[in-house]
Amino acid sequence: MNFFFRIIRYAKPYRKYGFLNILFNILYALFSTLSFLVLMPLLQVIFNPEKATIITQKPTYQGLANSVDFFKEYMGYTIHTVAGEDKSMALTIVIILVIFTFFFKNIFNYLAMFFITFLRNGVLKDIRNDLYQKIVTLPISYFSEKRKGDIMARIGTDVLEIQYSFLSILEMIVREPLTILFTITAMLLISVKLTLFVFIFVPISGFLISLIGKSLKRKSDRVQKEQGLFLSLIEETLGGLKIIKAFNSENTFIAKFKESTNRFFTYSNTLLNRTNLASPASEFLGITVIAILLWYGGRLVLIEHALAGEDFIAYMGLAYNILTPAKAISKASYRVKKGNAAAERVLEVLDTDNPLKDLPDAKSISDFKETITFDSISFKYEEDYVLKDFSLIVPKGKTVALVGQSGSGKSTLANLVTRFYDVTKGSISIDGTNIKNVTKKSLRALLGIVTQDAILFHDTIANNIAFGKSVSKDEIIQAAKIANAHDFIESLPNGYETNIGDSGNKLSGGQKQRISIARAVLKNPPIMILDEATSALDTESEKLVQDALEKMMQNRTSIVIAHRLSTVQNADLIVVMKEGKIIEQGTHQSLIKKDGTYKMLVTMQEL
Ligand SMILES: Nc1ncnc2c1ncn2[C@@H]1O[C@H](COP(=O)(O)OP(=O)(O)OP(=O)(O)O)[C@@H](O)[C@H]1O
Ligand SMILES: [Mg+2]
Repeated sequence: MNFFFRIIRYAKPYRKYGFLNILFNILYALFSTLSFLVLMPLLQVIFNPEKATIITQKPTYQGLANSVDFFKEYMGYTIHTVAGEDKSMALTIVIILVIFTFFFKNIFNYLAMFFITFLRNGVLKDIRNDLYQKIVTLPISYFSEKRKGDIMARIGTDVLEIQYSFLSILEMIVREPLTILFTITAMLLISVKLTLFVFIFVPISGFLISLIGKSLKRKSDRVQKEQGLFLSLIEETLGGLKIIKAFNSENTFIAKFKESTNRFFTYSNTLLNRTNLASPASEFLGITVIAILLWYGGRLVLIEHALAGEDFIAYMGLAYNILTPAKAISKASYRVKKGNAAAERVLEVLDTDNPLKDLPDAKSISDFKETITFDSISFKYEEDYVLKDFSLIVPKGKTVALVGQSGSGKSTLANLVTRFYDVTKGSISIDGTNIKNVTKKSLRALLGIVTQDAILFHDTIANNIAFGKSVSKDEIIQAAKIANAHDFIESLPNGYETNIGDSGNKLSGGQKQRISIARAVLKNPPIMILDEATSALDTESEKLVQDALEKMMQNRTSIVIAHRLSTVQNADLIVVMKEGKIIEQGTHQSLIKKDGTYKMLVTMQEL
């Protein structure tokens, strides 16, 4: 239940609608009771017309205990003043009255639902926005552990479940208890004896029904988890369709998918059947109570003559009237459990602590003046250290190249400078300030990144280059020219307005890379981090991009990661890495002279 109350907070901005909903629910509950009471004069007109139409004296109110009789007499009196002795006229009047009460009952019902809709969908919207915001701010490391589909399930179906189950309960808290309250009051006024009966049997049936609800949360948890798995599978399949086809692995994936849907089938069958049991079980128990009432009430009417026939019929109507809300309340306990499971999953994401949060006194750095310093840093993603006691100084305006075998920790260094991860030991500083004491936003404003795999979005080329920055078309073209992308973009049918498809799949690898270079160029930051920026280019465009990059790097500080050593010969410093450590460093010339690992790598590549 604690999750429930935390979700309720989301309703706060929409409380206006909540109050309107409550107001109309009160009116609805009132009219739904009234709609049974107005049946009494109707039944009286039909079954006992003499008594119904001869009341010529305006009755006086005799206190609450006699208010049902007063109501009936008053109705009879009113009918008599309008219709006189005309029985068919009397019938017409009562029927119109019945129609009116039912009409208003339903109008109020609709209005209550009308207003709560804004609250429900508002909460849905706000939770989703919060979740998305959380996802965007959480560190990269969070997502290497989680399945994407699981996150998608939480933001999609779990939030929907909350909207559906929790908020309909919110509604129920007012409407159903009030309906029950009003109805029971009316029932008490008609017959105290009979109503005591109801009080004995209703709690018993309530208890029986609650037994069914046990363990529902666990069952619904399982269903939601499976849903996440299944979405993950779809997501991965769509992303890797090419490989799946090329390796003829369709059947493996289909089998995997079927396994998941089969589990989903089994789990949700159990869950749904359990949930579905609620309604028939409570209806049956309800009708048992009614049957007992019929037996006892029938005796009161026929044998003891303690109750008028029409009163008894109206009473039965009322008793049936509490069945629906009672059923709804018993169902609500399942819904709470189901909703609680969903809320827990949603809140789990919202509550995730961000280990990379800005410190409260974090400074904002506005420019880069002197050096980037790696001071004996060590880092591990999981168990093993990927970088060990690594130290390096990158002076402003210089280009430092990182080379070395695959897995030696080059991309990891880029991840650390950008604070996608925090170093485990040691420190990285910019102009002497530890980057942990700097706001991530201001730090990243200084950095331009071209990642190893070009990351593009389903949008136009222009938007992929501008990437949220409000810039002119000319600036975009300028950036594209520097990245040597302008010519190929122009040759596309829609030029800069061409949509490049999901993750840029309509472009070649080299084209994607040049667009991501253009994006970094346009950002125009003082520090550039290029992770294999030219790896997907042919020799000719590599030369062009290389020229462009060199031009761009002239008054910038750059960290360049490269496998092709020919691209980093002009770097001010070349750092050769192996297993997270520096094994050699120097300029191209000095390293060649040294005749070590670098020389060997260069020779191998020249062959
Ligand atoms: N998210 C991660 N979680 C756990 N381990 C990781 C993660 N990313 C990388 N690693 C590990 O860290 C090590 C260094 O990886 P890194 O990506 O820095 O290598 P690299 O030098 O860039 O290699 P390449 O030249 O192939 O790009 C590898 O052994 C890799 O298995
Ligand atoms: Mg790498």
